[in-house]
Amino acid sequence: MVLSHLVPYIRHIIVIGAAVLLFIILSKEPDRNHEESSVGVGQGDLGTKDDLLFTESELAQYDGKPGSKGLFLVILGHVYDVESGSKHYGPGEAYNMFVGHDASRSFISGEFESYYPELSDVSGLTDTELKSLVKWKSFYDKTYPYRGKLIGRYFNERGELTEYHKLVLDRAAKAELEEAQPKQEYPSCNVEWKEETGTRVWCTSRSGDGVDHGWVGKPRRYIAEETSDKEKLPFCVCVPDGSSSSPSLVPFTNCDASSVSCFVKDENNE
Ligand code: HEM
Repeated sequence: MVLSHLVPYIRHIIVIGAAVLLFIILSKEPDRNHEESSVGVGQGDLGTKDDLLFTESELAQYDGKPGSKGLFLVILGHVYDVESGSKHYGPGEAYNMFVGHDASRSFISGEFESYYPELSDVSGLTDTELKSLVKWKSFYDKTYPYRGKLIGRYFNERGELTEYHKLVLDRAAKAELEEAQPKQEYPSCNVEWKEETGTRVWCTSRSGDGVDHGWVGKPRRYIAEETSDKEKLPFCVCVPDGSSSSPSLVPFTNCDASSVSCFVKDENNE
C-alpha cells in the first residue's frame, strides 16, 4: 500500500492538518469586535470608520414623537437606541427630554423639564460630577444598542473626539484617580534613623507639612489592608488626643501609647 509508509508520521500529519484548519477558520472569522465596537468614553479610541455620524437635525428626527424615526438618546455625543426603554423615554414619560438631542448636563443637574442647547455643555460640572457622567455613559453602553455619534460639541465631522471632549474625559479620569488614592487623615510623624538606636518616630505640632496645626498628637502605626495602600501611606502618623480610634491605627509595640516619641527599631514598615 502506497500510504502505508506514512503511518509512522500519522500524528504529525494530524497536528499539522489541525493547525492549517485553525488558521483558515481564524482568517475567515469576521472582525466582530470592530463591527460592533462602540466608542467608549475613556477607552482612548477615536471611534471606528463604521460609526454612523448624525447631525443635530438628523438626530432630532429620533425623538419618539408620532412619525419620528425612533427613540435615540445622546450622552457625551454618543447615540443610543433607547426604544426598549420607551417607558422611560417615550413621549410624555419622565425622561423624554433626553431623546433627540444631547442633554448630557441634565444627567447630573437633574434638569429634565425642557430642552435647550446649553444642556449639552458640561464644562460647569466638577471633576467628580464628570466622573459620574462617564458612569452614566457606561450604563448606556451596557443597556442599549449603540448607534453612532452626534457631530457637534463632542465629535467633529470626521467622528473624532473634539478637544472639549478630551478635556471632559481627562477631568473625569483625574477625579477617578484622586478617589482611588488612600486618604491620609493625619500628618506623618517625624522620622530619624541612627545605627545605634534604629528608627525613632515622634510628633510635634508641625509634624507632616511643617505648618503648626495646634496639637502634637501621638505616633501611631498605620496598618493598611491593601498592599497598594500600604505603599502609598506613611507607616507612622500623628493622631491627636481624643480622636476616635481607627482599627488601622495602632500604638507601636514597646512604646507607651501616651508617648510622643517611639523607637521602632524592630517594626519599621511592618
Ligand atoms: C439627576 C437626577 C436623575 C437622573 C439624571 C435620572 C435619570 C434616570 C434615567 C435616565 C432613568 C432611565 C434608566 C433606564 O434607561 O433604564 C431613570 C429611571 C428611574 N428613575 Fe431616575 N433620575 C434622576 C433622579 C431620580 C429620582 C430623584 C428618583 C426618585 C424619586 C428617580 C426614580 C427613577 C425610577 C423609579 C426609575 C425607573 C427604574 C426602572 O423602572 O428600571 N430618579 N432615571
